[in-house]
Amino acid sequence: MKNLELSTKSVDTLNEPEAAIELARLAVEIARHDALYYQHDAPEIPDADYDALRRRNDDIETRFPALVRADTPATRVGTAPSDGFGKIRHAVPMLSLGNAFANEDVAEFEARVRRFLSLTPGDPLAFTAEPKIDGLSISIRYEKGVLVQAATRGDGAEGENVTLNVKTISQIPHKLSGRDVPDVIDVRGEIYLGHDDFAVLNAAQAAAGDKVFANPRNAAAGSLRQLDSTITASRPLKFFAYAWGEASKLPAETQSGVVAAFARWGLPTNPQANVCASAAELLAAYRETGERRAALGYDIDGVVYKVDRLDYQQRLGFVSRSPRWAIAHKFPAEQATTVLNAIEIQVGRTGALTPVAKLQPVSVGGVVVSNATLHNEDEIARKDVRVGDTVVVQRAGDVIPQVVRVILEKRPPDAVRYVFPSACPVCGSHAARDHDGGSSTADVVRRCSGGLICPAQAKERLKHFVSRNAVDIEGLGEEKIEVFYDDGRIMRPADIYTLQARDSRSLKRLKDQKGFGEKSVEKLWKSIDARRKVALDRFIFALGIRHVGETTARDLAKSLGTIEAFQEAVRAAAAGGRESEAYRDLDNIEGIGLTVVDALSAFFSEPHNLDAVDDLLKHVTIVPFERIHAVQSAVTGKTVVFTGTLAQMSRPEAKAQAERLGAKVAGSVSKKTDYVVAGADAGSKLDKARDLGVAVLSEDEWIALISST
Ligand code: IVH
Repeated sequence: MKNLELSTKSVDTLNEPEAAIELARLAVEIARHDALYYQHDAPEIPDADYDALRRRNDDIETRFPALVRADTPATRVGTAPSDGFGKIRHAVPMLSLGNAFANEDVAEFEARVRRFLSLTPGDPLAFTAEPKIDGLSISIRYEKGVLVQAATRGDGAEGENVTLNVKTISQIPHKLSGRDVPDVIDVRGEIYLGHDDFAVLNAAQAAAGDKVFANPRNAAAGSLRQLDSTITASRPLKFFAYAWGEASKLPAETQSGVVAAFARWGLPTNPQANVCASAAELLAAYRETGERRAALGYDIDGVVYKVDRLDYQQRLGFVSRSPRWAIAHKFPAEQATTVLNAIEIQVGRTGALTPVAKLQPVSVGGVVVSNATLHNEDEIARKDVRVGDTVVVQRAGDVIPQVVRVILEKRPPDAVRYVFPSACPVCGSHAARDHDGGSSTADVVRRCSGGLICPAQAKERLKHFVSRNAVDIEGLGEEKIEVFYDDGRIMRPADIYTLQARDSRSLKRLKDQKGFGEKSVEKLWKSIDARRKVALDRFIFALGIRHVGETTARDLAKSLGTIEAFQEAVRAAAAGGRESEAYRDLDNIEGIGLTVVDALSAFFSEPHNLDAVDDLLKHVTIVPFERIHAVQSAVTGKTVVFTGTLAQMSRPEAKAQAERLGAKVAGSVSKKTDYVVAGADAGSKLDKARDLGVAVLSEDEWIALISST
């Protein structure tokens, strides 16, 4: 039978040799259409026909599993047409690291780990120390040793599918070899570009009149995120493996052991990694790495320390987005001098007036800097920074560059002292310094009193609402918010969700506006629709309430669970005031203090905020908080208070364990407490529990309870 006829034969009538021929044809055919679609924006067949090809491939694979090809189109998952790259959800989130800057921070890190694990000073505790590569992190999935998928970090939960591009990096093996390679492992590490290769690339870019990259990191990121894999292939990207996500089985019981196995399997690992036995040894490794830094041939911005034993890592777990068992010790900031041309005032989403230095562009450690923060008016006065001054600017890692000091000898004779405005430069409202939390000293920050009538505040709030860690509306970035606010299309968050309906009735259709087109507008509707469901913690964070960052938002969501409970709690506190029970209940939530409750109460006392939230809730569904690793246990949903000294584990570990089992851990005892776990020398909390008739458990009884499930 000829291949052409074969392609029309129904799957259940194919025999094995025919199926093999068909799978080979489909692999080539689908890859060709993928290239036409994604890389050349010139599809030859309608989507439905393309889908049919994929379905046929899947059906044949299901019937003949032994014939599944190494290059099967099926593993190129989730390639969403209009987004360029498809999305991949990480089986285990990709996290970031907490930072240490001073030597004391490192000693404190070791002490914290020891306390958490209840180790005595005599118990050994080993760490690894390795360079922190300044590149971009990647998660590469191997199944049965074969590279099947690679994803960027993205927002940590979901990244971009860059499998084809990663496969062009010669240092990354397509197959792992070794007897202990697990069935499934997500190998994680850093893709980077060496200094020499960076210089060659930039010279070539400049010669061709193409974009010159600011630093190797940007060049590596730009090279990896190419829709045309042949471009990626032409860039000499490199890779170091240093961590992992999902793994069906691990080849060792230590961090260093797993990384050694990576090397045996054929993955590049950093030769500069050490195992250290104490904070003092970590600091020695840090000094040595700093001395070698210039000769390494690639950018690093610090040293990463990780607890070596994996059972300890497991017990230590995570806080918010970073592991308790690792920390990044950053190198000191890089500095440069330049001239300050002007001071501009930016108005933030909570009305804060932030002075920004407009600088003569200068390269600071490889990055061109033309803006730097001056923090606030007291800082300007303290440093006596004046327009025309020559100043020292510094940049550390990803943080905003800052003006450190003035070089007085270079001050022009006519430079005058800077007078900080007392009115908002955007809306003209009075700008004052509050007395935060009723304290007697004025807050360092001067704030515009205009609230949402101030366009700057309104815009910043909208930008925050759509930002990546908040509601995360792709394609609705800062510039679009500016445009949509200025033309009146989006003035409040709810407007985002009614935009499409209003646009369909409008005489000035968005697709006809400059900078838009049919396709980009369709894409925008799609990404807005994708966010009509929002997780509670993201939603709370997205509201942009003062003092409510991601961690606080998550603490609130974790404790209150649903939007209804959240609304009831904050509105009751706002109505009842500081002395009310509702206020105390919020204050009682672990991780929440009075400053936050004050801020929540202030936010929910403003009628325009209440309206904005109510309107928003007409258009979005809020998904109740999912407890991570939502296990069902005897204590799921129960509120627990620990008091006194525990013998079997430290208080933080007991708390983390209880939370993993779905319990809420509170700081103080109230009628809502289900259990008080009393260790040795328990004091007033135990008395209070007895007064209120709350169940009191000994540590052993608690352990028996949680072990019963
Ligand atoms: S470990 C759970 N090791 O730093 C911890 N990260 O700030 C996983 N990075 O996104 C990270 N070199 O891109 C680790 N030797 C190293 C690293 C490293 C660079 C990056 C990585 C991560 C970021 C965290």
